[in-house]
Amino acid sequence: MHPDCERILLSENEIAARVKEAGAWLEKKFAGTVPVAVCNLKGSAVFFADLLRAAHLDVEMDFMAVSSYGANAVSSGKPYVKRDLFSSVEGRDVLLVEDIVDTGRTLITLRQFFKERGAKSLTVVSLLDKPARRVVEVEADFVCFSVEDAFLIGYGLDYAERYRNLPYIGILKRSVYEK
Ligand code: PRP
Repeated sequence: MHPDCERILLSENEIAARVKEAGAWLEKKFAGTVPVAVCNLKGSAVFFADLLRAAHLDVEMDFMAVSSYGANAVSSGKPYVKRDLFSSVEGRDVLLVEDIVDTGRTLITLRQFFKERGAKSLTVVSLLDKPARRVVEVEADFVCFSVEDAFLIGYGLDYAERYRNLPYIGILKRSVYEK
């Protein structure tokens, strides 16, 4: 375990098993269609790669970045599109892949974004959900894990851009971000 980690919340094996289930759900949901899978960078990158390999589907991949956090641990509360999609999603079934729904502000922003872009449908899969932190009413269609309100790192999640490559999800030691 990384020395900055207090404890492991979700192990590599637990994540892999649940990602497999999410993949099976997607296979049913998108049978007979070719959705555009959108990775909301950067936190979703690791989950996106695993999820799409777990789901045996014909998909296109696209990438964008909506962000509300700077290098701080606290959200500024104003999500904005930092990097736009490469392609049009007009008339397409979109599968949005998120790493976490926290306050919900990012997801609300993205729902509006895909509506404005003329997507035919939007399905949201999130690795994590932190219901205790929600400030706007919004949910993903499929959540892998509902988690406690702790500072999480790993499997895509960062603190000040570090720890994204840890293969598990851990709780960051307070001493690291309260320095
Ligand atoms: C994180 C995460 C979600 C969002 C969730 O992104 O990836 O997109 O915050 O928070 P919310 O529900 O409170 O809006 P972040 O802005 O940290 O960027 P990153 O993915 O590049 O780390």
